[in-house]
Amino acid sequence: MAKQLEKKHPLAIRWMHWINFPLLTLMIWSGMLIYWANPVYSIYIGNYELFKFFPPWFNDFFGIPFRLAEGLQLHFFFMWLFATNGVAYVIYTIASGEWRAIVPVPSSLKRAPLVALHDAHIVKEKPPQGKYNDAQRIAYTSVILMGVGSLLSGLAIYKPLQLAWLTAAFGGYQWARWIHFWLTVSFVAFFAVHVIQVVLAGWSNFRSMITGYDIVDAVETEAEPIAQKDEVIA
Ligand code: HEM
Repeated sequence: MAKQLEKKHPLAIRWMHWINFPLLTLMIWSGMLIYWANPVYSIYIGNYELFKFFPPWFNDFFGIPFRLAEGLQLHFFFMWLFATNGVAYVIYTIASGEWRAIVPVPSSLKRAPLVALHDAHIVKEKPPQGKYNDAQRIAYTSVILMGVGSLLSGLAIYKPLQLAWLTAAFGGYQWARWIHFWLTVSFVAFFAVHVIQVVLAGWSNFRSMITGYDIVDAVETEAEPIAQKDEVIA
C-alpha cells in the first residue's frame, strides 16, 4: 500500500523532549550522589526488608561513595535547566493546543486497560489511537505532573526556611523528602516502560520523535490521487 508522510511532533516538543532526557538522567545521577550520605529508604514486607536503596555493593560498583558535595553542586545547577525546560514545555503545550493530544479524556481510564490487553495480544481489536492512545495519555500526563511534583518537593527540601509554606504544604521536611525520592523511583519506572513501548512501537515511531514526521498509509482524495501526491514515498 502507498505511504505518505504525516506531521506528528512539533519541533519545540521534540527539542524539549530530547533535552529533558539527559537532564533528567543527570538529576537522578547527582541525586544518587546526595542520597548516599543519608540512605534511609527501603521496601519492607512486614518487618522484612525486601530491597534497600541502595546496598553498599551497588554504591561501590557505580563509584558513588563520598561524592556528596559534587552531587549537590550538579543537582543545584542542572535543576535550573530541568525546571526551565519543563516550564517551557508546559507553556508551549498549553499555548499550542498540543495538550489536547496528551490530557486524558473522560473515557481514557476505561479504555486504557484495553491498550495493555491489546499489547499483551489478549485482545485482538486495536483500541482507538489518535496521536496518543489512552494509556499514553495517562502515562504522559502523569509524568508531566510528576515533574511538577519533583520540582516543588525539591524546592521544599532545598529551601525549607525561605519556603517554609511550601515545605508545610508537603506535610513537613520528611514528607517532602519522601515524596521527592519516590517520584524519582517513579520516573525510573516510567522510563523503563516508555523505552520498552518505544522499542515495541518500532523504528518509524521513534524516528517521528526526531524528524517530526510519521509514515502512514496514504489516503486518496478526489483532488489528489495517491500517485500524484508529492509526499507519496512508497
Ligand atoms: C527521560 C525520560 C523521558 C521522559 C520523561 C519522556 C517523556 C515523554 C513524553 C511526555 C512524551 C509525549 C511528548 C509530547 O507529545 O508532548 C514522549 C514521547 C515520546 N518519547 Fe519520551 N520520554 C523520555 C525518554 C525517552 C527516550 C529515552 C526515548 C527513546 C528511546 C523516548 C522516545 C519517545 C518517543 C518515540 C515518543 C513519541 C511516542 C509516540 O509518538 O507514540 N523517550 N516522551
